[in-house]
Amino acid sequence: MARRVPCVDLAGEYAEIGPALEEAVLRVLRSGAYVLGPETQAFERELAERVGVRFAVGVASGTDALVLALRAVGVGPGSEVVTSPFSYFATVEAIHIVGARAVYADIEPDGFNLDPESAERAVTARTSALLPVHLFGRCADMAPLCALGDAAGVPVVEDAAQSIDARRAGRAAGAWGAAGCFSFYPSKNLAAAGDAGAVTTEDPEVAEALRLLRSHGSRQRDHHEQIGTNSRLDALQAAVLRAKLPYLESWTRARSELARGYAERLADLPGLELPAAGEDEGLVWNQYAVRCRPEPLRAAVVKELDAAEVEWRHFYPQPIYRQPALGSERLPEGTCPEAERACREVLCLPIHPRLSAADLDRVADAVRRGAGR
Ligand SMILES: Cc1ncc(COP(=O)(O)O)c(C=O)c1O
Repeated sequence: MARRVPCVDLAGEYAEIGPALEEAVLRVLRSGAYVLGPETQAFERELAERVGVRFAVGVASGTDALVLALRAVGVGPGSEVVTSPFSYFATVEAIHIVGARAVYADIEPDGFNLDPESAERAVTARTSALLPVHLFGRCADMAPLCALGDAAGVPVVEDAAQSIDARRAGRAAGAWGAAGCFSFYPSKNLAAAGDAGAVTTEDPEVAEALRLLRSHGSRQRDHHEQIGTNSRLDALQAAVLRAKLPYLESWTRARSELARGYAERLADLPGLELPAAGEDEGLVWNQYAVRCRPEPLRAAVVKELDAAEVEWRHFYPQPIYRQPALGSERLPEGTCPEAERACREVLCLPIHPRLSAADLDRVADAVRRGAGR
């Protein structure tokens, strides 16, 4: 059997652009400027331009991006934040870290993102922000969500951790709300060599609040205006991210080609629902998330993927409100039926840019065998 088909292939990425990465890292090591500094500032400018907003503020992780963005728009103890339960835990963890309460709206039945109608029903007088997630590389339905935020008089904070460069109606993920939160964790489309994150915003006051919060509430040495934290984007990570940015577009094209390849190979399988997108959407395919119905079909597909040495992921096996960490704030099953159905049906297939045509065939053949075709 050939090598395992992985979901993420960072060693392959290094093999492709190693010299550019090494040059970037050495440039920082030689500069002696390791925290923030010109490299981080340059990355912030390049990211802001890419997303199409005025400011980007580099922080230590996607989780910190969410925490600091929520704080920067005024979410704190006593606040309620309407969000999706079908996401990585950090989305809700951030709400808890700032002392606020998560209020869950359901996801769309034909996708994986927050359903604007369900979000509207979840908004109350206590709501102080909306936190939609652009899951798997697809921008959420932001026009109605932003209209909802405007009508309720509350900011929209976007969790764009998985969706750099995703677009909807011509606008990028991270450019819709009061703040857009990015992760550059190594499994993301733009991957740091470790943890890194950023917040994008059009609002100079939010940008300034973020700069204060990420650096101990301090603008000036030994003068602290508020309790912040230490969450700075270090120069090594900024340099690595800058070195990769010029390749991101071609990597996204490769991911899109693979998505087309999956669609050609799998579209006819009964019980398998492939990810789809509307005319005005640009997906960036952080995951290729299919739905398998009923459960025995999913189990059979998984068995064949394992036998064919194909890695797969179950993002996510349960809605966040079922996580034990939430203690007394855990909610019962049945709270968000569409999110719960997604948890049962979803299966993520490999879609990294260096997947070969042979790899794609191997994955698709295994899926077809699982489906009895
Ligand atoms: C949707 C989502 N939100 C937030 C995060 C948190 O990002 P990080 O791991 O960089 O803290 C991640 C990634 O792990 C994520 O996928």
